[in-house]
Amino acid sequence: MKIIHAKDYDDMSRKVANLISAQVILKPKSVLGLATGTTPIGAYKQLIDWYHKGDVDFAEVSTYNLDEYRGLSGDDPQSYRYFMNHQFFDHIDIDKDNTHVPDGTDLDVEHACKSYDQLVKDAGYVDLQLLGIGRNGHIGFNEPADAFSKGTQCVDLTPSTIEANSRLFDNPDDVPRQAYTMGVQTIMQARMIVVAATGADKAQAVHDMIEGAVTPQCPASILQLHTNCWVVADAEALSLCQ
Ligand code: F6R
Repeated sequence: MKIIHAKDYDDMSRKVANLISAQVILKPKSVLGLATGTTPIGAYKQLIDWYHKGDVDFAEVSTYNLDEYRGLSGDDPQSYRYFMNHQFFDHIDIDKDNTHVPDGTDLDVEHACKSYDQLVKDAGYVDLQLLGIGRNGHIGFNEPADAFSKGTQCVDLTPSTIEANSRLFDNPDDVPRQAYTMGVQTIMQARMIVVAATGADKAQAVHDMIEGAVTPQCPASILQLHTNCWVVADAEALSLCQ
């Protein structure tokens, strides 16, 4: 893993946006793997700004998001499709038909998972996968488990993830309990991975990801085995690392 030290959230966002932008400039037809959550919002804002300045464009890019709540439609303001449209896609020249998020309205788990895997496979897998990291070391919604997941799957969210996500919902009871997520094996098939993290509450997970044992109890730890994985993090997130 290669570590890029960021001063703070804004600096991390600029550095992540720089990596994504370089990828898209070098390969306009790039397949990007994207994440939701608080972490990438600043990078998306920066990319929108550079798009408006004419520095980068997304006309030929296609995207595959990591995850979606099972049961939520893209019109639901809490859905990850809604998040991506509002935080990023609506503000750039990407063709919405080329943006993909697991279909939360498809309640047939096997069908929903297989179709998403097929889409990613047909795209030739991901060129650059952007990841945030959960406080428990999850990537996508791959929570600590006894084995690493492979393809897309439906997961029961852990109490800590439900609690972390409840800040985004008016009523904690409305936080969905299940989600579709790209599997760890699919994430590992990306040709380049960028993990972004800031803040002290990520320090333990970042330590375990970079310096801990490779174990499904910290799903992000498998990224140590990826040959082109970059961690962009601030001093607080790296505070427990040597
Ligand atoms: C989001 C995702 C999650 C988040 C993680 C960190 O699509 O897959 O793994 O990246 O929960 O979330 P934030 O950035 O909100 O701290």
